[in-house]
Amino acid sequence: MLAVIGGSGLNQLGNLEATQRKASRTPYGEPSGALTFGRIGRRDVIFLARHGHRHTIAPHEVNYRANLWALKDAGAVEVLSVATVGGIRTSLAPGALVLPHQIIDYTWGRHATYHEGPAATVNHIDFTEPYSQGMRNKIREAARACGEKLVDGGVYAATQGPRLETAAEIDRLERDGADIVGMTAMPEAALAREISLEYAAIAVVANHAAGRGDAKRAVPLESIAAVLETAMARVRRIIEELCR
Ligand code: HPA
Repeated sequence: MLAVIGGSGLNQLGNLEATQRKASRTPYGEPSGALTFGRIGRRDVIFLARHGHRHTIAPHEVNYRANLWALKDAGAVEVLSVATVGGIRTSLAPGALVLPHQIIDYTWGRHATYHEGPAATVNHIDFTEPYSQGMRNKIREAARACGEKLVDGGVYAATQGPRLETAAEIDRLERDGADIVGMTAMPEAALAREISLEYAAIAVVANHAAGRGDAKRAVPLESIAAVLETAMARVRRIIEELCR
């Protein structure tokens, strides 16, 4: 089954014919909200709003462990993350959709593994390719089939937030090789790998990152909602195609 984790601007999936909503508990606590079960086209889909249905949970407060555990427990095999980001490369302007292929993790103090606590054994996962290539291929194909432009590949810098970055921090992330910056890819991607969920993301560029493009002096927060509204409609079309 496919699960979709929606980020800012995607608190519900409009094209999901919902059949059931289910609150759940996990050994790691409660997920961000109830899981919505339903169908898109011919596929069973589970939807979870990462920041809660009313967008009240900040990126550093999300219970990533509970979210992924609950999805796995509900029968998810694949997880598509939809996440808003800032564009570091100026060609990645507001509204661009990116299919990231790599991650650099700058987050701290988050519960980043299932393998901790008194009963846990030391356990390492391979994370060379943090995203599922199989899922990336399907998402790329779906975007092509419905004619939505999706930039293939990008290095996602995961920052702690909730504040946006300074211009000097963005310069540093660019020197590190990052193309986009967001606050939620980690530990989400690593946790998915730990429990063998196929995981990939569509990153939605909400704004130029600090010091870039029209964010030279400040990130224009007031224009983000309108950008996301249009962009998320395109993401929904890609998801619909993915479920065909
Ligand atoms: N930085 C970090 N996370 C973000 C941004 C940004 O500029 N825009 C949307 N999420």
